[in-house]
Amino acid sequence: MKDILTELEDRRNDARLGGGQKRIDAQHGRGKLTARERIELLLDEGSFEEFDMFVSHRCTDFGMENQKPAGDGVVTGWGTINGRMVYVFSQDFTVFGGSLSETHAQKICKIMDMAIQNGAPVIGINDSGGARIQEGVASLAGYAEVFQRNIMASGVVPQISVIMGPCAGGAVYSPAMTDFIFMVKDTSYMFVTGPDVVKTVTNEVVTAEELGGASTHTKKSSVADGAFENDVEALAEVRRLVDFLPLNNREKPPVRPFFDSPERVEASLDTLIPDNPNTPYDMKELITKVADEGDFYEIQEDYAKNIITGFIRLEGQTVGVVANQPMVLAGCLDIDSSRKAARFVRFCDCFEIPILTLVDVPGFLPGTSQEYGGVIKHGAKLLFAYGEATVPKVTVITRKAYGGAYDVMASKHLRGDFNYAWPTAEIAVMGAKGATEIIHRADLGDAEKIAQHTQDYEDRFANPFVAAERGFIDEVIMPHSTRRRVSRAFASLRNKKLKNPWKKHDNIPL
Ligand code: HXC
Repeated sequence: MKDILTELEDRRNDARLGGGQKRIDAQHGRGKLTARERIELLLDEGSFEEFDMFVSHRCTDFGMENQKPAGDGVVTGWGTINGRMVYVFSQDFTVFGGSLSETHAQKICKIMDMAIQNGAPVIGINDSGGARIQEGVASLAGYAEVFQRNIMASGVVPQISVIMGPCAGGAVYSPAMTDFIFMVKDTSYMFVTGPDVVKTVTNEVVTAEELGGASTHTKKSSVADGAFENDVEALAEVRRLVDFLPLNNREKPPVRPFFDSPERVEASLDTLIPDNPNTPYDMKELITKVADEGDFYEIQEDYAKNIITGFIRLEGQTVGVVANQPMVLAGCLDIDSSRKAARFVRFCDCFEIPILTLVDVPGFLPGTSQEYGGVIKHGAKLLFAYGEATVPKVTVITRKAYGGAYDVMASKHLRGDFNYAWPTAEIAVMGAKGATEIIHRADLGDAEKIAQHTQDYEDRFANPFVAAERGFIDEVIMPHSTRRRVSRAFASLRNKKLKNPWKKHDNIPL
């Protein structure tokens, strides 16, 4: 008996070494942790339960039958994050470069199937040279099996990808279909075709970092949602994110203890809006002053900064926030901000996370680049996402809500539950100056008359009361009481039930 126990321990130790000490040292030398070290940091101490530690590949070509490391380049299993269950896979670059074989894919698929069945998030740590070259089409088939599960799991359990090394070729499409992608600066990259192929086909000379590094994907492409300094920071942030999310689409998000009175009054908000309507202010100040303990978890912080998306808690409960940012492009909606916010709204809706919308939007950004880029379809994504969402929706208009953008930003007409406005709100078809120049074109040569018309238009429309008279604004609230009003609104919506008509699925303008 003792021999058998020793043999098990020997086998385990062998599996834990992955591709061997030399390759582990090389991994560390690059500033990267190993697959197992990453899992240790991600999960609560001692909570990891491993599956398939002894699985090995079945390839017999190219001498592969003589190299069969236990585990086959991916560590899989489940554990907890602050006591809540998650499934995890972590690719082991020390074993054939973390490349994906048929059996490696089967290990990932096994935990994904369990995650869907048992209702817990999947966190995938990617560090891989792509398809196991020695296996050919069996590896491609393995990828497709993983893809199919990403699709089935979408909207059922949260899926988070952490890119901690190479992720290239078709391999990128698994993370691409997950809910959030985090990357590590300088050590991770994602691209469909690498720098060498790019050079051959397009003559462009570009480094891997420029083509698909963390900065590129969080600032330019929006493929990734967050970029972090190193493995440790990235994994700590995944833990923080998971704390905001429900485990699956049948469960409500977690309720955390809170030490911040929902009655808290913020007198400084009464002076947040500058006297000059064209002067920007930082919408993040409002978000953090409304949130429990000022805690705001931002998503896509470095992309389309004219809209802010992220999670806060109110009375301990997760709330998704979408807010125009007057500091960037005056808070206009455009292609990038519409896409960013639409995806966020859809995430919140599929996982029953209520949405708080803070509005200061002068309209859609004009211009040929916007129109040629399809702002009509992209803007419609956000409109569609808000309109189909059945979660509690609370909206506060702080200043401008002009034109189509007023409708889009979770207006009453898109089934907003509580639509509040600050006294400083201006709800109109457009700004007073633009409106005057159109309806009083004949007076354009007379500066005095135009100034008078502009003033008249402002007096009539640059306020929330025209909309409030029609019931499009439920109430005009004092800025200092925003946290209390919004918290009470969400509290009153905890049992909200709203269903869309039966359909196979909708046809959101993609
Ligand atoms: C098998 C691989 C491998 C792969 C790396 N290795 N990639 N083994 N299949 N795809 C092995 C190497 O042979 C090496 O083994 C070890 O992993 C580490 O690789 P190095 O090249 O020494 O590391 P590094 O210099 O850091 O370069 C990493 C790399 C490079 C950039 C990822 O290895 C590379 O270019 N690999 C090939 C990438 C690729 O073309 N993959 C297929 C893409 S097509 P030893 O024994 O020396 O340690 C694809 C399609 C997916 O993925 C389609 C899905 C639909």
